[in-house]
Amino acid sequence: MALKFPIFMDAQSTTPGDPRVVEAMIPYFTEKFGHAASRNHSFGWEAEAGVDRAREQLAKIIGARDPKEIVFTSGGTESINLAIKGVAEMYREKGNHIVTTVIEQRASLDVCKRLERHGYEVTYVPVRPDGLVELEAIQKAITDRTILISVMVANNEVGTIQDIAAIGRLAKEKGIIFHADGTQAVGKIPLNVETMGIDLLSCTAHLIYGPKGVGALYVRRKGPRVRIAPLIDGGGHERGMRSGTLPVPLIVGFGRAAEICGEVMAEESARLAKLRDRLQDMILSNVDEAFLNGHPERRLPHNLNISFAYVEGESVLMGLNKETALSSGSACTSSTLEPSYVIGALGASAELAHSSIRFSLHRFTTEEEVEHVGARTIEVVKRLREMSPLYELAKEGVDLKSIRWKAE
Ligand SMILES: Cc1ncc(COP(=O)(O)O)c(C=O)c1O
Repeated sequence: MALKFPIFMDAQSTTPGDPRVVEAMIPYFTEKFGHAASRNHSFGWEAEAGVDRAREQLAKIIGARDPKEIVFTSGGTESINLAIKGVAEMYREKGNHIVTTVIEQRASLDVCKRLERHGYEVTYVPVRPDGLVELEAIQKAITDRTILISVMVANNEVGTIQDIAAIGRLAKEKGIIFHADGTQAVGKIPLNVETMGIDLLSCTAHLIYGPKGVGALYVRRKGPRVRIAPLIDGGGHERGMRSGTLPVPLIVGFGRAAEICGEVMAEESARLAKLRDRLQDMILSNVDEAFLNGHPERRLPHNLNISFAYVEGESVLMGLNKETALSSGSACTSSTLEPSYVIGALGASAELAHSSIRFSLHRFTTEEEVEHVGARTIEVVKRLREMSPLYELAKEGVDLKSIRWKAE
């Protein structure tokens, strides 16, 4: 099959919409346009039925007992805000301490920073060089004032998957609420809020081939019943946790997207892992001083993150960007030229953090695309290195750390 350009390999920033999702949404823009809270006519009932079905579809892929445990929001960022701020406000009397990790997505870190300005205390637990957080580190961080543990299921840059079930068990033992940011993981890897002991789970539609502008927060109703203060007050929708007219077409699309993920997950992740491994082997066997970031096994099947020493990630992207959409670092930090804080937190030097490239594959990625992107990446990195005096010096055996760059 002929390649179509540009090739999209940045599916951890967002995913292309699945046509089956769009098809499910369309009637809810036109003939089924009712307000889901209109209880006294069929337009409302029809819209409500669409939302109820989506709640069930979503509850099913995360193993929630009751569809009522799903609260629809505008996306992952809002869900995270609702989870962390909602617990912070509701359980203020019980304590003011939160435990999280240094590699959370900006939404979580920025919420925690804000809470710190309002008298809360936050412990940012470090991670190992492979991106895994040690259970003991979380355990040590817990105090008798801890009200929340908040940890991402899978990292958006390096794909490392945390031992969520172990953290869930620890949280249960200590009687602490556990929020998991599942934005990159829901629909991609098997998750079960019951067996993993998750009390709050954030997710978003646009990373599972659904529409942008809709997300959800799972809020446990039993064992324990978790209560959260709302961010948005109003008509009392979503059982008072998130007021505002529900975006029915988006919610219907989210539900359908979740349903499809549930049906194809096993096959899709096996296919993507195989393609990803091929890309990884191609690059690592042809480019020296290229390093895999994240855990070699415990990572998302569609994620590959590599640092290329002696070249700038941005230069690699520029060399490829007419035909391939990739990312250096995460979408929210790549607008600045700061090195990735995630790669930095794994212990890499600033230079290596600056030279990281994230390849993320998706449902519609083909083998031809992988072969092409692999070959072009190798070519571009080699070309950049030919122009790099640092690479030349390193190849001559000069220890770059010993160089005095300016007269002192
Ligand atoms: C791990 C993680 N959490 C939260 C978010 C924010 O989700 P949204 O874009 O739906 O606001 C993202 C977005 O990519 C993410 O990767």
